[in-house]
Parts: sequence; C-alpha cells; structure tokens
Amino acid sequence: MRVTLIFMCGIVGYVGEEPALPFMMDGLKRLEYRGYDSAGIAVVENGAIEIVKKAGKLEVLEKALVGHESTGTCGIGHTRWATHGGPNDANAHPHTDCSGRIAIIHNGIIENFLELRDRLREDGHELRSETDTEAIAHLIESEMVGNLTAAVRKALAQVTGAFSIAVVSADEPGLVVAAKRTSPLIVGVGAGGTMLASDPTALLPITREMVHILDDQVVEIRADGYRITTLEGADAEGQAITVEGDLVAVEKGGYDDFMLKEIYEQPAAVRDTLRGRTHDGGRIVMDELRLNERDVRNIDKVFVVACGTAFHAGLVAKYAIEHWTRLPVEIEIASEFRYRDPILDRDTLVVAVSQSGETIDTLEAVRHAREQHAKILTVSNTVGSSIPRESDGVLYMRAGPEIGVAATKTFTTQITALEILALWLAQVRGSLYAKECAEIVEEMHRLPELIRRALECRPAVKRIADDIASCRDVLFIGRHVGYPSALEGALKLKEISYLHAEGYAAGELKHGPIALIEEGVPVIAIANRCHVYEKVISNIQEVKARGANVIAVVTEGDTEAARHADSVIEVPETENELLAPIVTAVPLQLLAYEVAKVRGNDVDQPRNLAKSVTVE
Ligand code: F6R
Repeated sequence: MRVTLIFMCGIVGYVGEEPALPFMMDGLKRLEYRGYDSAGIAVVENGAIEIVKKAGKLEVLEKALVGHESTGTCGIGHTRWATHGGPNDANAHPHTDCSGRIAIIHNGIIENFLELRDRLREDGHELRSETDTEAIAHLIESEMVGNLTAAVRKALAQVTGAFSIAVVSADEPGLVVAAKRTSPLIVGVGAGGTMLASDPTALLPITREMVHILDDQVVEIRADGYRITTLEGADAEGQAITVEGDLVAVEKGGYDDFMLKEIYEQPAAVRDTLRGRTHDGGRIVMDELRLNERDVRNIDKVFVVACGTAFHAGLVAKYAIEHWTRLPVEIEIASEFRYRDPILDRDTLVVAVSQSGETIDTLEAVRHAREQHAKILTVSNTVGSSIPRESDGVLYMRAGPEIGVAATKTFTTQITALEILALWLAQVRGSLYAKECAEIVEEMHRLPELIRRALECRPAVKRIADDIASCRDVLFIGRHVGYPSALEGALKLKEISYLHAEGYAAGELKHGPIALIEEGVPVIAIANRCHVYEKVISNIQEVKARGANVIAVVTEGDTEAARHADSVIEVPETENELLAPIVTAVPLQLLAYEVAKVRGNDVDQPRNLAKSVTVE
C-alpha cells in the first residue's frame, strides 16, 4: 500500500512489559530522517510523570537522558517540526496540564487555539508555552471528571483543526489514549507490548502488521493490545496494513524518492497552509503577523526578495499583490538587492520569501532593508529560523519538512501563503470588496483537490519525458503568471536532469531566443485558459513554424490548444488565473522528475546543490 502522509511532527507511544524509554527513543530515531527542531519524552513512573524535553536534534535529548534510570513501562515521545512558537525547550513536547499529571504530544495544527488559550486563561489555567498543543492538555484537565479517555473525548469536541495526539495520565498508568483527525496515527502490537506512532517506520522493530487509526477515532493502548472507538464512544475498526520493504523504502512512504513523495504531498501541504487562516465569509485571519493595521494602510510600495524557486513564487506574488491591492511591487533577486541601493523607507514593505529561512542572500537583503527602516514580512517553512527572527512579521507555510533538495511542495505552499498575504493586505487596505475576496478564498480551498487531479497527468508526462530526455536544450514559455511557471519549470528540469533549460516570457522569445529553435527542440508552453491565452497560442505557432516540438500545458478539455501543439498535458482549471501556477507547477515538477529518472540521476540529491544555501 502506498501511503501519502504529511508530517509536521513525529509521535510515538509505548505500553508494555519492558521499560518504555528504549522503545520510544528507537522510534524517534527512525523518524529523525525528516529533520526536527526539538524532541521530548514523558514516562509514567511511580505515580508521577517524568518529562525530559530539549530544543535541538534528538542527540541533545539523548545526552540529557544519559544516566537516566527509567523503568516506567508506559510513555510517549515526540520530535517537533515547529508550527506555533519557536523551537525552544518550553515549546518542545510533551506538554502538561497545570497539575503536571497529564502529558500530551501532538502532530497537526489546532485552528482555534488562540480562542481556547484565552478561555483557559480566564478559567485560571497557567499556560507555559506558545504552542497550540498545550491548550489541549489544559482542556483535558478541565474535563477530567471520570477517566482519561472520557476527558480526551470531551476536550477534542472543543477543538477544530488537524491532530493526532497521544496522552498519558499519572493516575492511569499502563494506558496511552490517542486520537486522530487528518494527521496520521498508526498502532501495532509486538511480543513485548503495544506501540503507536505517526509513521510506520517507528513501529518496524516490533511489527510489520499495523493498523491505521481513521479520522475521529480514539485508540486506547495497553500492554496486551488496543481498543478503537469513535470520538463519541462507539466501537470502531481501523484499517489494517502490512508494511513491506526496507527501512528507507518505508521512510519514503512507498515512493521511489523523497521528491516524488513531496510532489504527492502537495494537496495536504496546501491545505495546511490555508488551515485556520480564513473564516467563513472569506475573511482572512492573520493573528500571527504582528504587523499593525495602521502601518499596513500606510505602505506605499512593496519589494519581494528571494532566491531560486522562492523568487519564482515571489514573482507570482508580485502579480497578485499588484492586482488585488493596487500597490506597486518590485521583485528582486536577494543577492542583487542590496548592491543596487534600492529606495526604501518606513512605508516600504519588504516581503522575504525563504523556505529554509536561512538563505544568506535573503537574510542580508532583509538586514539591508531593516537598516532603511522598511517593514519586513517573511514567508518561510522553518519556524525560528534566522530570517523570520529578524523580521517584523512571519507567515509560515506549514509544508512539513522537505527532504528532496529540489523545492516542490515548498514552491506551491509559498505561492499559497503569499497569495493569502496579498488578500490580507487587500482586506486591510480595502482594495477588494469582501465578496470578491470571499470568492477567491473559496477557490483557494478547492486547490488541494485541483492539485490532486493535476497529479493524474503523470502517465502523459512520462511519455513526454522519454522523448525529451536525450535533447540538448529545452525551452519553457509562458505569459502573465505563466511566466514564473515557465521559469520554475526550467529551473526544476536543470536542477535534477542536468539538461540545459531556459524559461522565457513568451512574448520575449522573438527578441532573440527564437534563434535557438530548430527542428525538434522541445518547447514547453504554459497555455492554460487565461486572459493572455490567445497570445500564448500565437507564440506557440511562431515556434511551431520553426520546427519546435511543442508540449502545451493546457486546461482540461481544451481542444483548441491541442490543435497547435505536438502533445498536451491537461490540468484542471482555476477560475481565478492568479491561482493557476499552484496547479501548473505539478506537471512541470513531474516532467523534471521523470526526465531525471530516465537519465538515471539521483533526484533527491542532485549534484552541486544544497538544501539550504548559507554562503554568499
Ligand atoms: C530550487 C531550490 C532553490 C531554493 C533557493 C532558495 O529547487 O530549492 O532554488 O529555492 O535556494 O531557498 P530558500 O527558499 O530556502 O531561501
């Protein structure tokens, strides 16, 4: 079975006859390949809960546990990929209630956590971290009249969002209560006990026979097995799976490479980017931005600074911010920004885009902008990284860790986050009617499904990849937001296939690059239905007349474009064309992937490239 799961955090739980700690640490180590920012464990022992948690890699936690005699046979463990609150000891999981007798770990995003935290504080609870998770520990405490399972059910009834949680109580040793909505949760029984985890890899040492807990189910694990019920308490069943293959194959969730897995994670990743940021009626909620609305209304110019793929996402954002807010936007490659003396002041908004949050060129651009008193807002995937720390506000993409060096899900979630930001600016500045904003937001929520459908183009892409894998040059062309899509398509192909590829604004082709066209040169045209569609068709005809092999990315069912191209790849239509790059990215990523595979390249670690570029 192929599993597409997206993990923000890794969770494990164990109840058995032997000490829980070695099982949990082994499980956490098996989850570590995804890279984490903090880790922690809780063991129920001698009528109390002992917690050790540390910011940093798992080895920091391991060091803290040296000499630690732990005999408790029931516990939970966590590796964190921060989404709310920076990566420090206090925000590391497990979190406890006020009494310290309930401990919880969580993977996912609680959407109504601000409201829950306010209410809990009013009721006298003392919250010690900035996380969304801690609120659930206190909710369970306030619902604790009967047993732990009943309190967990009542607490979860008040929670919206995505979660897989595991909870222990000092008063009920020998029991871990876990529950799931959206985020993955798996249970397995071995010779020495029962384990749960967010990822099958963590359970491999005890069993290959596992059960996926389904949405809105609760599972109680004990030394002799587990019991699944619904959130309401009725008996239920999960979905049994047998995990095959070696550890590396399991880490890749059944995909051949991390890059492919991450391409397929995009529906879930984009959904997580949007989660909790829009209200019914289309209002954008940006509590996390820390920019005051008066300052936002005074902004008179926007700069977007970024590198590589993030720059291409930023170029889409330029079109969106200008169209929706009517603010002038300049986009600049971060490594060039500070060397050309850009004109900035306190009414300038600089939007830095960096999935890693560590790219030195982007960081230096931000520092330069700060010196000129501009307001800095960062879109990043890495909580607590350097660029967000030096910014006035930050919007996290929540794409989960990306292991493939070539950016895929971080590209589409960057655009999603930037477009949400653009709509928020428009909302604060009153440049869009509420109804218009609501329509766009509604369509944004359809994006995960549109991406899922776009992924169905893989067989068509594979056939085309076989054809172009032996070519010398490949050109990508597009207009309007099809232009950044073309740039990104070319970059992806270059990075992992090592073919020479260039992206051009389709109208610019005749000003020089058209000289490159000769018989059979592949030209990938972004030709989905939009206000410049006819123009792109004309550009296709220009290259076709000179012998190009035209592959057009078109809107589903478009027979007109198909008449002019040699082959077509269909993608679903977005009514708002500014959202189209999020969908058209999919066939371009798959094309780069398939060409690289035909050429026998290592797609996850292409030569000469690093995931985070921290040298100028
Ligand atoms: C391309 C790629 C790079 C990065 C660039 C910026 O696949 O990954 O072009 O986009 O190095 O990285 P971040 O977003 O971390 O600043």
